[in-house]
Amino acid sequence: MDAYWLEQTNSDVPSGDWWLSESECARQGGLHIPKRRSDWRLGRWTAKHAVAVYLNLPRSQPVLAGVELRPAPSGAPKVFLRGRTAPVHLSLSHSHGVGLCAIVRAGAEVGCDLETVEARSPIFVADYFTDDEQELVRRAPAVSRDQVVTLLWSIKESVLKALGCGLRSDTRSVNAAPADYLNSHGDGWFPVSAAHDGGSQFYGWWRVSEDLVRTIVMEGRGCQNSTTTLPKAPDSTSACAAPISLAEKWRSLRSGLSFPESTNSAA
Ligand SMILES: CC(C)(COP(=O)(O)OP(=O)(O)OC[C@H]1O[C@@H](n2cnc3c(N)ncnc32)[C@H](O)[C@@H]1OP(=O)(O)O)[C@@H](O)C(=O)NCCC(=O)NCCS
Repeated sequence: MDAYWLEQTNSDVPSGDWWLSESECARQGGLHIPKRRSDWRLGRWTAKHAVAVYLNLPRSQPVLAGVELRPAPSGAPKVFLRGRTAPVHLSLSHSHGVGLCAIVRAGAEVGCDLETVEARSPIFVADYFTDDEQELVRRAPAVSRDQVVTLLWSIKESVLKALGCGLRSDTRSVNAAPADYLNSHGDGWFPVSAAHDGGSQFYGWWRVSEDLVRTIVMEGRGCQNSTTTLPKAPDSTSACAAPISLAEKWRSLRSGLSFPESTNSAA
């Protein structure tokens, strides 16, 4: 099954609330910390567009306001279309003004995460990483250490989001394995696999650009050899093809805008 993704930034998000539903406006009213509020808006904006583009819906004000993300008791986002469960699953992440949404059709579990590459202490690695992961960190050249630690952490977060539990679970319950990490260069998507100690297997992809690590995982085994090969071309229908960007389609829909763009905070 293919996974799709879309990224947006704070400057894409309009200043007005015309694209939010009534209940989302009420929820937003309870978010008093400016950063939390802007992250929440960025996540909603990104996810609503991902759903509209993925489902080939017109990018109009009623459609955007009609796509609602309601948090389950765990915090995991559930998607509704005009009040009914939508035939999709998605996962959200926001970091430093960038929002990432990964979306798949209902029936699959997906998790995504966006992390800024930063230094994390040896105590962090010892406390939160499995023995295999700690070994990978030890083998990484000094120049890549922060990136590999961030990547492993991001894979764990993605898996725990796909499972719907988030960081309530022990991060050592996930063993993350970015395939052939030391030989993966460039800003394309590279394969990962991960195992949860509850028995579930995950496969997915990672990518880094501008000091931001992105990971997307899905439950399942993917290609059996996904730990040793690079992802296939994005137009492949193989279970372990790299995730497909919705950005181009999103941009082409932009030209047929039918909502109050003049309320945008961005030019
Ligand atoms: C889910 C969690 C891992 C997110 O981590 P983060 O790096 O802070 O934030 P990200 O930007 O990557 O992801 C945030 C999104 O994850 C999603 N999310 C939250 N809880 C989730 C869960 N249990 N399962 C799947 N997705 C979840 C939400 O969509 C959220 O965005 P939103 O609140 O704007 O809708 C973390 O917040 C968590 O585990 N929360 C639940 C437990 C908790 O509150 N622990 C206290 C902190 S340890």
